[in-house]
Amino acid sequence: MVRAGEQVLSNVVASQIATHQPYGGVVPELASREHLRAIVPVVRQALAEAGQTYDSVDAIAVTQGPGLAGALLVGISFAKALSFALNKPLIAVNHLEGHVHAVLLEHRQNADADLEFPVLALVVSGGHTHLYLAEFEKKREANLWSYINIGHTRDDAAGEAYDKVAKLLALGYPGGPIIDRLAPHGDPHAVKFQIAQIKHRDRNEPLNAHPPAQHAQEDVRPHFDFSYSGIKTAVLRYVETHQLGPSIDARRSALAEIAKPTVDDYLRLCDRQTLNLVASFQRTMVSDLVTKTLAAAREYDIRTLFVSGGVAANQELRATFQSEAEMQGLPVFFPSRSLSTDNAAMIAAAAYPKFLRQDFMPMDFSAEAGLVLH
Ligand code: KG4
Ligand code: ZN
Repeated sequence: MVRAGEQVLSNVVASQIATHQPYGGVVPELASREHLRAIVPVVRQALAEAGQTYDSVDAIAVTQGPGLAGALLVGISFAKALSFALNKPLIAVNHLEGHVHAVLLEHRQNADADLEFPVLALVVSGGHTHLYLAEFEKKREANLWSYINIGHTRDDAAGEAYDKVAKLLALGYPGGPIIDRLAPHGDPHAVKFQIAQIKHRDRNEPLNAHPPAQHAQEDVRPHFDFSYSGIKTAVLRYVETHQLGPSIDARRSALAEIAKPTVDDYLRLCDRQTLNLVASFQRTMVSDLVTKTLAAAREYDIRTLFVSGGVAANQELRATFQSEAEMQGLPVFFPSRSLSTDNAAMIAAAAYPKFLRQDFMPMDFSAEAGLVLH
């Protein structure tokens, strides 16, 4: 529950990590079932913690997409039922806009100065590695946020690469948090990885979509795309050529015996070579994310940078962005780590400008698994 887009009254997160852990990734059918199981108690708990009632709520916000259709539908059906029964307006939010507003929510709380536009937002999570130019139109109470995508992953998202590498090395699920903690114990220069440098234009786009003569136009400016499936394959190749298989199997069996492994357990079960591999993987990921994002910021004359999404919880990513953006004279904002990963407060925060604009949904809208942000 969020008041006026900035005050978090409660933010209840029902984690499904334990459900998906044995599979090393999200299983869609299990995700919908868990949503169904959790939604009523979670909403009740959110009201109770906020000291609110169903009647005291002004509006109900729900994620429309992108995401897994089954899980989205659980939320949408429940939100519609609440909206209908309570006669409260219903607001649909794009999940990615939620990640952007996780930053804004806390900025509104802490800020002593207004934001300078244009804002560049990197949303980096298990499903996305996307760069958006964000603009805000406040004139005549418009309260309108708009976004232009200027880069995205061509294959795996950054969080997906973390999860797949962790799975490969038997480090559990999700991979990001554990790699984050293990990386400082290894040598980040031990293994050299190359990340594909994507040429600016998407090969699938028709050539005439970008007439070369009109350089001043927005859509002829370069894109800054990412690609992380190669590094996952490179880690696999390293594991094979350095015969790490037996030690990975040993770690998997040892971890299976520990109910809640701690970082010390992982450290005990990882040899130097594995820690070096993890550190080198993370250094390569962080350096690619930061370099491409800051290049985009220069190209688009950005005044403020946001970094959000699950991977934005990463310590090394934060520290590197902070120092490199500072050198470029660019203010960078992150959500606190708990608002970086998926949560409901960011969806309520993103709904607030829509609430002010009375941008409400009819009862017949549906989930959009591939919803784009603009
Ligand atoms: O935003 P999020 O909670 O869910 C999606 O919308 O995908 O992001 C989850 C992703 C997972 O891939 C997870 O491994 C990654 O964020 N992640 C991290 C860290 N914490 C979560 N990656 C790197 N470092 C972290 N500390
Ligand atoms: Zn997310």
